[in-house]
Amino acid sequence: MDEIRKGLENVIALETSIAFIDGEQGILKYRGHDINDLSKLSYYEVSHLLVKGSLPDGRELEDYSNELKQERFIPSDAMAVLSSCNFNIEAMDALRTTISYLSHCDSDMNGNSSEENIRKGMRMIAKFPVIVAMFYRIKTGQEIVEADTSMSHGANFLYMLRGERPSDLEAEIIEKDFILSAEHELNPSTFASRLATSTLTDIYSAIIAGVCTLKGPLHGGARMAVMEMLDEVGSVENAGLYVADKVNLHEKLMGFGHRVYKTYDPRARIYKELARQIAAEKGDLSWFEIAESIEKAAFKEFVENKGKTIYPNVDFYSAVVYKYLEIPPKLATAVFAIGRISGWIAHCLEQYSDNRVIRPRAKFVEI
Ligand SMILES: CC(C)(COP(=O)(O)OP(=O)(O)OC[C@H]1O[C@@H](n2cnc3c(N)ncnc32)[C@H](O)[C@@H]1OP(=O)(O)O)[C@@H](O)C(=O)NCCC(=O)NCCS
Repeated sequence: MDEIRKGLENVIALETSIAFIDGEQGILKYRGHDINDLSKLSYYEVSHLLVKGSLPDGRELEDYSNELKQERFIPSDAMAVLSSCNFNIEAMDALRTTISYLSHCDSDMNGNSSEENIRKGMRMIAKFPVIVAMFYRIKTGQEIVEADTSMSHGANFLYMLRGERPSDLEAEIIEKDFILSAEHELNPSTFASRLATSTLTDIYSAIIAGVCTLKGPLHGGARMAVMEMLDEVGSVENAGLYVADKVNLHEKLMGFGHRVYKTYDPRARIYKELARQIAAEKGDLSWFEIAESIEKAAFKEFVENKGKTIYPNVDFYSAVVYKYLEIPPKLATAVFAIGRISGWIAHCLEQYSDNRVIRPRAKFVEI
């Protein structure tokens, strides 16, 4: 009863039918479907699976996609809020502020039925990439690019960000990125969203709690940190020394280690292959090779020398993929959020449907 598990390690806080993780075997499933199979689908199929509970048939997918595509814009007053953001910030900060304002514009804001929450959730799924792309265009003094509703979720995001159509491989890879980022059981940001939901607050507030929590460098913020690390390492030759320095200084190596996985993160394996493919298409293996050298050096230090189960996590090779997609580091965590929003929405809906306020205890200690 009085046992304290710091960081709530291995505490089972609730039941879910959204995600299954086997941290020893390196297995991840969304609603019973293995991540390796899901990564072959489109983001909208996987989003439908998470939000609506099942993979869509042809008609359902068309309806779901059309609804989301129609929401690929933000109203002009929300645009004004986005434009007035301080641009020396991360896209996550702009996302948090703009989503908060968007809640004021939502006609369903004051309703908390399942239908209303799904509608609000779908609006956020559609608008997250629009906000991130627009933030970047405004920040860099470039014209806003209007959404193209003929494109997939991922391809349209890259198009709005860069102002030109992505290659087929880039479009495929960003869709996979969103799928791989979409859901991961009770990770800190999902837990934050569920905790907020458990007070019966509105779904925008619950999602904002998730956004705020994902930003931290021990969670989604690690992706940005890995991108900066790749720049800092700069060459294959420097990788060994860089990793050894981190170990000697007892500093964390970003993109490595996981609370649940005690083996290779299954998402990292897929991202590694995507990084290899995009590097080959770009005809520039340098970032991939630097990352592989860091991975090899880390394996030697952590696994061989210390016998620890510290392997690359989801943020390591995804950061390499972002390098090749020319996503600036200050956007990296927000791009992660574009994928994760479907998982957050699914968890909020599950929490609303069988709620009890989440309220643990603390042990008082005299100091
Ligand atoms: C993910 C993470 C927060 C999990 O934290 P946790 O379960 O609380 O694990 P701890 O931080 O207590 O680490 C356990 C041990 O492994 C070591 N460790 C874990 N991750 C490490 C890393 N990335 N680099 C170096 N050492 C690491 C810790 O120093 C600790 O060693 P000790 O027992 O000798 O003190 C942690 O691995 C981390 O900070 N990783 C880097 C940030 C990151 O990539 N986050 C994205 C997660 S998807």
